[in-house]
Amino acid sequence: MMESIPILQQAEDESQAAFLRRFARDVLHGLSMPRKGLPCKYLYDDAGSRLFSQIMNLPEYYPARCELEIFQTHKAALTDLFGGPPLNLVELGAGDGTKTRVLIGQMRTKKTDFTYVPIDISRAAVDCVSDRFSRWFPGLRTRGITADYLAGLKWLSGQNHCRNIVLFLGSSIGNFSARGREAFLKNLRGAINTGDCVLTGFDLVKDIAVMTRAYNDAEGITAAFNRNLLTRINRELEADFDPGLFRFYSTWDVAARAVQSYLISTCEQRVHIGRLGRNFDFSAWEAIHTESSHKFTRHQTRELAARNGFAVEAEFTDSAGYFTDCLWRAA
Ligand code: AVI
Repeated sequence: MMESIPILQQAEDESQAAFLRRFARDVLHGLSMPRKGLPCKYLYDDAGSRLFSQIMNLPEYYPARCELEIFQTHKAALTDLFGGPPLNLVELGAGDGTKTRVLIGQMRTKKTDFTYVPIDISRAAVDCVSDRFSRWFPGLRTRGITADYLAGLKWLSGQNHCRNIVLFLGSSIGNFSARGREAFLKNLRGAINTGDCVLTGFDLVKDIAVMTRAYNDAEGITAAFNRNLLTRINRELEADFDPGLFRFYSTWDVAARAVQSYLISTCEQRVHIGRLGRNFDFSAWEAIHTESSHKFTRHQTRELAARNGFAVEAEFTDSAGYFTDCLWRAA
Protein backbone atom coordinates (compact mmCIF):
# COMPACT_ATOMS: atom_id res chain seq x y z
CA MET A 1 0.00 0.00 0.00
CA MET A 2 1.91 3.00 -1.29
CA GLU A 3 0.63 6.52 -1.05
CA SER A 4 2.55 9.54 -2.33
CA ILE A 5 1.52 12.96 -1.15
CA PRO A 6 3.02 16.09 -2.68
CA ILE A 7 2.31 19.00 -0.36
CA LEU A 8 3.44 22.57 -0.71
CA GLN A 9 4.22 21.70 -4.28
CA GLN A 10 2.41 23.44 -7.04
CA ALA A 11 2.90 22.24 -10.59
CA GLU A 12 6.18 20.33 -10.82
CA ASP A 13 7.73 22.77 -13.34
CA GLU A 14 6.70 25.78 -11.26
CA SER A 15 8.47 24.40 -8.20
CA GLN A 16 11.46 23.59 -10.40
CA ALA A 17 11.60 27.23 -11.49
CA ALA A 18 11.31 28.38 -7.88
CA PHE A 19 14.13 26.02 -6.93
CA LEU A 20 16.38 27.41 -9.67
CA ARG A 21 15.70 30.97 -8.55
CA ARG A 22 16.64 30.06 -4.97
CA PHE A 23 19.74 28.17 -6.14
CA ALA A 24 20.85 31.19 -8.21
CA ARG A 25 20.23 33.57 -5.30
CA ASP A 26 22.19 31.36 -2.87
CA VAL A 27 25.12 31.02 -5.28
CA LEU A 28 25.18 34.79 -5.87
CA HIS A 29 25.17 35.42 -2.14
CA GLY A 30 27.75 32.73 -1.39
CA LEU A 31 30.25 33.78 -4.04
CA SER A 32 29.88 37.49 -3.25
CA MET A 33 30.99 37.11 0.38
CA PRO A 34 34.52 38.09 1.39
CA ARG A 35 34.95 34.41 2.37
CA LYS A 36 33.25 32.50 -0.41
CA GLY A 37 30.93 29.63 0.48
CA LEU A 38 28.12 27.53 -0.98
CA PRO A 39 25.30 25.85 0.98
CA CYS A 40 25.97 22.12 1.37
CA LYS A 41 22.36 21.20 0.55
CA TYR A 42 23.19 21.76 -3.13
CA LEU A 43 25.73 18.91 -3.07
CA TYR A 44 22.87 16.47 -3.57
CA ASP A 45 21.77 16.49 -7.20
CA ASP A 46 21.44 13.04 -8.84
CA ALA A 47 25.20 12.66 -9.38
CA GLY A 48 25.93 14.04 -5.87
CA SER A 49 23.47 11.62 -4.28
CA ARG A 50 25.11 8.72 -6.10
CA LEU A 51 28.54 9.85 -4.91
CA PHE A 52 27.18 10.23 -1.37
CA SER A 53 25.94 6.60 -1.49
CA GLN A 54 29.49 5.59 -2.42
CA ILE A 55 30.86 7.64 0.49
CA MET A 56 28.61 5.70 2.86
CA ASN A 57 30.42 2.50 1.83
CA LEU A 58 33.98 3.85 2.03
CA PRO A 59 36.29 2.21 4.58
CA GLU A 60 37.24 5.68 5.89
CA TYR A 61 33.64 6.88 6.36
CA TYR A 62 32.91 5.28 9.74
CA PRO A 63 29.62 7.11 10.67
CA ALA A 64 27.42 4.99 8.38
CA ARG A 65 28.91 1.72 9.67
CA CYS A 66 28.68 2.82 13.30
CA GLU A 67 25.03 3.77 13.05
CA LEU A 68 24.21 0.50 11.29
CA GLU A 69 25.97 -1.40 14.08
CA ILE A 70 23.91 0.51 16.67
CA PHE A 71 20.67 -0.45 14.95
CA GLN A 72 21.68 -4.08 14.46
CA THR A 73 22.75 -4.40 18.10
CA HIS A 74 19.95 -2.45 19.76
CA LYS A 75 17.03 -2.85 17.40
CA ALA A 76 14.86 -4.67 19.96
CA ALA A 77 15.44 -2.19 22.79
CA LEU A 78 15.14 0.76 20.45
CA THR A 79 11.87 -0.23 18.84
CA ASP A 80 10.42 -1.26 22.23
CA LEU A 81 10.99 2.33 23.34
CA PHE A 82 9.01 3.62 20.36
CA GLY A 83 5.93 2.59 22.38
CA GLY A 84 2.47 1.42 21.46
CA PRO A 85 0.92 1.49 18.00
CA PRO A 86 -0.39 2.92 15.79
CA LEU A 87 2.79 4.73 14.81
CA ASN A 88 4.15 6.75 11.95
CA LEU A 89 7.81 5.90 11.41
CA VAL A 90 8.82 9.17 9.78
CA GLU A 91 12.18 9.51 8.05
CA LEU A 92 13.57 12.97 7.30
CA GLY A 93 15.52 12.66 4.07
CA ALA A 94 15.08 9.65 1.83
CA GLY A 95 18.42 7.84 1.74
CA ASP A 96 19.18 4.35 0.50
CA GLY A 97 17.31 2.81 3.43
CA THR A 98 20.07 0.48 4.66
CA LYS A 99 19.77 1.56 8.31
CA THR A 100 16.02 2.12 8.46
CA ARG A 101 15.56 -1.35 6.97
CA VAL A 102 16.90 -2.85 10.22
CA LEU A 103 14.34 -1.00 12.35
CA ILE A 104 11.47 -1.78 10.01
CA GLY A 105 12.47 -5.46 9.90
CA GLN A 106 12.32 -5.55 13.70
CA MET A 107 8.95 -3.78 13.84
CA ARG A 108 7.54 -6.20 11.28
CA THR A 109 8.81 -9.18 13.30
CA LYS A 110 7.02 -7.76 16.34
CA LYS A 111 3.91 -7.14 14.22
CA THR A 112 3.86 -3.47 15.21
CA ASP A 113 1.08 -1.47 13.54
CA PHE A 114 2.90 1.35 11.76
CA THR A 115 3.16 3.36 8.55
CA TYR A 116 6.53 4.27 7.05
CA VAL A 117 6.55 7.97 6.09
CA PRO A 118 9.63 9.22 4.19
CA ILE A 119 9.70 13.02 3.82
CA ASP A 120 11.96 14.65 1.25
CA ILE A 121 11.87 17.72 -0.96
CA SER A 122 12.63 15.50 -3.97
CA ARG A 123 9.62 13.54 -5.23
CA ALA A 124 11.93 11.16 -7.11
CA ALA A 125 13.81 10.36 -3.89
CA VAL A 126 10.55 9.75 -1.97
CA ASP A 127 9.15 7.49 -4.70
CA CYS A 128 12.44 5.61 -4.98
CA VAL A 129 12.72 4.86 -1.25
CA SER A 130 9.00 3.98 -0.98
CA ASP A 131 9.38 1.57 -3.89
CA ARG A 132 12.45 -0.04 -2.40
CA PHE A 133 10.79 -0.57 0.99
CA SER A 134 7.67 -2.02 -0.62
CA ARG A 135 9.88 -4.56 -2.38
CA TRP A 136 11.80 -5.40 0.80
CA PHE A 137 8.64 -5.61 2.90
CA PRO A 138 5.61 -6.64 0.84
CA GLY A 139 2.42 -5.19 2.32
CA LEU A 140 4.26 -2.42 4.20
CA ARG A 141 2.12 0.72 4.51
CA THR A 142 4.09 3.69 3.13
CA ARG A 143 2.99 7.28 2.84
CA GLY A 144 5.68 9.29 1.08
CA ILE A 145 5.48 13.05 1.54
CA THR A 146 7.16 15.44 -0.89
CA ALA A 147 7.85 18.56 1.12
CA ASP A 148 10.29 20.49 3.19
CA TYR A 149 10.94 18.40 6.37
CA LEU A 150 9.23 20.68 8.87
CA ALA A 151 6.27 21.55 6.66
CA GLY A 152 5.75 17.84 5.95
CA LEU A 153 5.91 16.99 9.64
CA LYS A 154 3.55 19.76 10.64
CA TRP A 155 1.06 18.58 8.05
CA LEU A 156 1.38 14.97 9.22
CA SER A 157 0.97 15.88 12.92
CA GLY A 158 -2.33 17.55 12.16
CA GLN A 159 -3.62 14.61 10.11
CA ASN A 160 -4.29 11.79 12.53
CA HIS A 161 -3.71 10.57 16.06
CA CYS A 162 -0.79 8.28 15.28
CA ARG A 163 2.29 8.91 17.35
CA ASN A 164 5.22 10.05 15.25
CA ILE A 165 8.67 8.51 15.61
CA VAL A 166 10.90 10.84 13.62
CA LEU A 167 14.23 9.52 12.31
CA PHE A 168 16.93 12.08 11.59
CA LEU A 169 19.89 9.82 10.95
CA GLY A 170 23.51 9.91 9.80
CA SER A 171 24.55 13.00 11.78
CA SER A 172 22.80 15.25 9.27
CA ILE A 173 22.25 17.50 12.30
CA GLY A 174 26.01 18.14 12.11
CA ASN A 175 25.70 19.93 8.77
CA PHE A 176 23.76 22.85 10.28
CA SER A 177 25.54 25.90 11.65
CA ALA A 178 25.26 26.21 15.44
CA ARG A 179 22.39 28.69 15.07
CA GLY A 180 20.73 26.71 12.30
CA ARG A 181 20.82 23.58 14.45
CA GLU A 182 19.06 25.28 17.38
CA ALA A 183 16.44 26.79 15.08
CA PHE A 184 15.86 23.45 13.35
CA LEU A 185 15.36 21.57 16.62
CA LYS A 186 13.07 24.26 18.02
CA ASN A 187 10.96 24.18 14.86
CA LEU A 188 11.04 20.38 14.80
CA ARG A 189 9.64 20.35 18.35
CA GLY A 190 6.96 22.80 17.25
CA ALA A 191 6.01 20.63 14.27
CA ILE A 192 5.27 17.44 16.26
CA ASN A 193 2.95 16.56 19.15
CA THR A 194 3.85 16.10 22.82
CA GLY A 195 4.82 12.47 23.35
CA ASP A 196 6.16 12.03 19.81
CA CYS A 197 9.77 10.82 19.58
CA VAL A 198 12.82 11.88 17.61
CA LEU A 199 15.77 9.54 16.97
CA THR A 200 18.79 11.63 16.01
CA GLY A 201 22.24 10.40 14.99
CA PHE A 202 25.21 12.39 16.33
CA ASP A 203 28.81 11.83 15.31
CA LEU A 204 30.87 12.10 18.50
CA VAL A 205 34.15 13.97 18.87
CA LYS A 206 37.08 11.54 18.67
CA ASP A 207 40.67 11.20 17.47
CA ILE A 208 41.19 13.98 14.94
CA ALA A 209 42.92 11.61 12.51
CA VAL A 210 39.87 9.35 12.42
CA MET A 211 37.50 12.25 11.81
CA THR A 212 39.54 13.93 9.08
CA ARG A 213 40.29 10.67 7.26
CA ALA A 214 36.54 10.17 6.83
CA TYR A 215 36.49 13.31 4.65
CA ASN A 216 39.69 12.63 2.78
CA ASP A 217 39.31 9.15 1.36
CA ALA A 218 42.03 7.47 -0.67
CA GLU A 219 39.77 6.94 -3.70
CA GLY A 220 38.91 10.64 -3.93
CA ILE A 221 35.14 10.07 -3.80
CA THR A 222 34.61 12.88 -1.27
CA ALA A 223 36.63 15.21 -3.49
CA ALA A 224 34.48 14.24 -6.49
CA PHE A 225 31.33 14.76 -4.37
CA ASN A 226 32.44 18.33 -3.61
CA ARG A 227 33.67 19.15 -7.12
CA ASN A 228 30.35 17.95 -8.52
CA LEU A 229 28.82 21.08 -6.99
CA LEU A 230 30.73 23.15 -9.56
CA THR A 231 29.56 20.85 -12.37
CA ARG A 232 26.00 21.33 -11.11
CA ILE A 233 26.37 25.12 -11.15
CA ASN A 234 27.76 24.87 -14.70
CA ARG A 235 24.76 22.84 -15.84
CA GLU A 236 21.92 24.51 -13.96
CA LEU A 237 23.15 28.10 -13.84
CA GLU A 238 25.09 28.18 -17.12
CA ALA A 239 28.51 28.71 -15.57
CA ASP A 240 31.99 27.89 -16.84
CA PHE A 241 33.78 26.53 -13.79
CA ASP A 242 36.65 24.17 -14.60
CA PRO A 243 36.34 21.76 -11.63
CA GLY A 244 39.86 20.51 -12.39
CA LEU A 245 41.21 23.90 -11.33
CA PHE A 246 39.80 23.49 -7.80
CA ARG A 247 41.45 21.32 -5.21
CA PHE A 248 39.37 19.67 -2.50
CA TYR A 249 40.64 20.27 1.04
CA SER A 250 39.17 19.33 4.42
CA THR A 251 40.47 20.11 7.87
CA TRP A 252 39.57 19.94 11.54
CA ASP A 253 38.33 23.22 12.98
CA VAL A 254 39.14 23.17 16.70
CA ALA A 255 36.95 26.15 17.62
CA ALA A 256 33.84 25.02 15.74
CA ARG A 257 34.46 21.34 16.55
CA ALA A 258 33.82 20.47 12.91
CA VAL A 259 35.48 19.06 9.83
CA GLN A 260 35.38 21.95 7.34
CA SER A 261 35.41 21.19 3.61
CA TYR A 262 36.59 23.52 0.87
CA LEU A 263 37.22 23.75 -2.85
CA ILE A 264 40.36 25.80 -3.36
CA SER A 265 41.15 27.62 -6.58
CA THR A 266 44.64 26.53 -7.65
CA CYS A 267 45.21 29.66 -9.75
CA GLU A 268 43.94 33.17 -10.33
CA GLN A 269 40.83 32.81 -12.48
CA ARG A 270 37.53 34.36 -13.52
CA VAL A 271 34.32 32.34 -13.67
CA HIS A 272 31.20 33.46 -15.52
CA ILE A 273 27.73 32.44 -14.32
CA GLY A 274 25.31 33.00 -17.18
CA ARG A 275 22.06 32.91 -15.22
CA LEU A 276 23.41 35.56 -12.88
CA GLY A 277 24.98 37.60 -15.68
CA ARG A 278 28.02 37.95 -13.43
CA ASN A 279 31.72 37.16 -13.30
CA PHE A 280 33.39 35.98 -10.12
CA ASP A 281 37.12 36.41 -9.58
CA PHE A 282 39.24 33.98 -7.64
CA SER A 283 42.75 34.65 -6.51
CA ALA A 284 45.20 31.75 -6.38
CA TRP A 285 44.48 29.54 -3.32
CA GLU A 286 41.23 31.30 -2.50
CA ALA A 287 38.72 28.89 -0.95
CA ILE A 288 35.02 28.18 -1.36
CA HIS A 289 33.64 26.67 1.84
CA THR A 290 31.35 23.76 0.92
CA GLU A 291 30.41 21.98 4.14
CA SER A 292 30.73 21.91 7.92
CA SER A 293 30.45 18.50 9.56
CA HIS A 294 30.11 19.22 13.28
CA LYS A 295 30.99 16.60 15.86
CA PHE A 296 29.41 16.46 19.32
CA THR A 297 30.07 15.59 22.92
CA ARG A 298 27.45 13.59 24.83
CA HIS A 299 26.97 16.54 27.14
CA GLN A 300 26.25 18.77 24.14
CA THR A 301 23.54 16.40 22.80
CA ARG A 302 21.80 16.44 26.18
CA GLU A 303 21.93 20.23 26.33
CA LEU A 304 20.50 20.42 22.82
CA ALA A 305 17.58 18.22 23.88
CA ALA A 306 16.85 20.20 27.04
CA ARG A 307 17.10 23.60 25.36
CA ASN A 308 14.68 22.64 22.61
CA GLY A 309 11.84 20.95 24.49
CA PHE A 310 12.87 17.28 24.48
CA ALA A 311 13.41 14.74 27.28
CA VAL A 312 16.20 12.22 26.70
CA GLU A 313 14.64 8.76 26.63
CA ALA A 314 17.73 6.69 25.74
CA GLU A 315 21.15 6.87 24.09
CA PHE A 316 22.75 4.08 22.07
CA THR A 317 26.43 4.03 21.09
CA ASP A 318 28.50 1.75 18.83
CA SER A 319 31.26 -0.46 20.24
CA ALA A 320 34.04 1.99 19.28
CA GLY A 321 32.23 4.87 20.99
CA TYR A 322 32.31 6.89 17.75
CA PHE A 323 28.63 7.59 17.17
CA THR A 324 25.46 7.93 19.21
CA ASP A 325 21.77 7.71 18.39
CA CYS A 326 19.63 9.62 20.89
CA LEU A 327 15.96 8.91 21.39
CA TRP A 328 14.21 12.06 22.59
CA ARG A 329 10.56 12.49 23.59
CA ALA A 330 8.79 15.75 22.87
CA ALA A 331 8.07 17.10 26.37
C1 AVI B 1 25.18 14.04 5.35
N1 AVI B 1 26.30 14.39 6.23
C2 AVI B 1 26.01 13.99 7.59
C3 AVI B 1 27.62 13.96 5.76
C4 AVI B 1 28.73 14.42 6.75
O1 AVI B 1 29.42 13.54 7.28
O2 AVI B 1 28.82 15.61 7.02
C5 AVI B 1 27.93 14.52 4.39
C6 AVI B 1 29.32 14.15 3.92
N2 AVI B 1 30.15 14.96 3.35
C7 AVI B 1 31.26 14.34 3.04
N3 AVI B 1 31.16 13.10 3.45
C8 AVI B 1 29.95 12.95 3.97
